[in-house]
Amino acid sequence: ARVAVLISGTGTNMAALLYAAKAEDCPYEIALVASNNPDAAGLKLAEAEGIATFAHPHKGLSREAHDDIMHDALVAAKADYVALAGYMRILSPEFVGKWEGRMLNIHPSLLPKYKGLHTHERALEAGDSHGGCSVHLVTAELDDGPILGQTPVAILPGDTPESLGQRVLIAEHQLYSRTLAAFVARESSPDYLIAQIRERAL
Ligand code: GRF
Repeated sequence: ARVAVLISGTGTNMAALLYAAKAEDCPYEIALVASNNPDAAGLKLAEAEGIATFAHPHKGLSREAHDDIMHDALVAAKADYVALAGYMRILSPEFVGKWEGRMLNIHPSLLPKYKGLHTHERALEAGDSHGGCSVHLVTAELDDGPILGQTPVAILPGDTPESLGQRVLIAEHQLYSRTLAAFVARESSPDYLIAQIRERAL
């Protein structure tokens, strides 16, 4: 299966997905790394790894117009799935609709807790015992949608949002590659395909 990864910044999750894809038994390959930010550090890393990249700034464009440009790039790359990895843009419902059931996101909290930004700060303020991360299918609502996998990360005395965030990021890298691989493998398994065909025939 071909996966396009959308990033806006550093792209460490994208790198984790890319390195995991080097394993012979990985059921997906990275077809494209795309960004709304031409200066995203992750684009250079992907290029050096021989992965196709695409960048188009969103400035001066409507949300829909920018999403259309990204969508065309994903289609041109023959992507089967989209993995959002620190893509800091809210997507239009039209775009989400086009990739429904085939677009995943990683979020640095134990959803449904702490949707949006500053998740680690909020977990610390609430006195939670654990922070963590979640991989979910993307729906039109922000950081919502069916949860495919989660990793809780214990909060230590003296943790700051930064120190907790660093440990959660390690968990993110493992969770994302594992969950994406399992999702793609399940969808291409004979049992699943037969069930789909049966469902459509009913
Ligand atoms: C991660 O914490 C991810 O969960 C959030 O944005 C951050 C992206 O980090 N959505 P990176 O660019 O993958 O390093």
